[in-house]
Amino acid sequence: MAVIRHDILREAPNELVGIFDYVISDRIVNRFTHDEFLYASKTLASFLAPGGCLGLGVKLGLETIDQQLMAAAKANNVQTSDFWDAGTSTIDYTAARSLLEKVDFDYGVVPREVILNWFDQRGREGRYSEADVGSVFRWRAFKTMEFPDTPATKVFSFEREH
Ligand SMILES: C[S@@+](CC[C@H](N)C(=O)[O-])C[C@H]1O[C@@H](n2cnc3c(N)ncnc32)[C@H](O)[C@@H]1O
Repeated sequence: MAVIRHDILREAPNELVGIFDYVISDRIVNRFTHDEFLYASKTLASFLAPGGCLGLGVKLGLETIDQQLMAAAKANNVQTSDFWDAGTSTIDYTAARSLLEKVDFDYGVVPREVILNWFDQRGREGRYSEADVGSVFRWRAFKTMEFPDTPATKVFSFEREH
């Protein structure tokens, strides 16, 4: 077994292209804007050998923290459009920084300041529906499976055409 660290938003290393029967991606695309989602999905798919299968894990809809932010916006007379683009379903945690400080989130033992900085650096992320996932490839997802322990999270399995 080999472990290769690769930024999926950069060009795929030639030696990995077209050689894998299975590629699994677990909610990586949830960290991306819609354009990045498209780019990353195509790169992940490029790793497949003909007839290979891509399992794309995606959390659908809003994250809990997004819903908390929207509730905090309402309570504090802040426009959600300051950090949420409803047209493209994109959240911007950097723009929401001061509001995040008012949200009572719980990440266990991780200090609150660390979490706030983490959100700051996450910046803009798209939120996705099943239709968004379906529109990424010409291939049809032949199977979907829900994660048993994470709400609204599904793996969509795509088979590369021969
Ligand atoms: C929601 S987490 C995935 C959940 C993870 N598999 C787990 O079970 O904890 C998102 C993952 O995407 C990775 N990631 C974010 N941007 C990336 C990039 N440009 N290239 C590769 N991985 C990336 C992060 O390191 C993180 O591990």
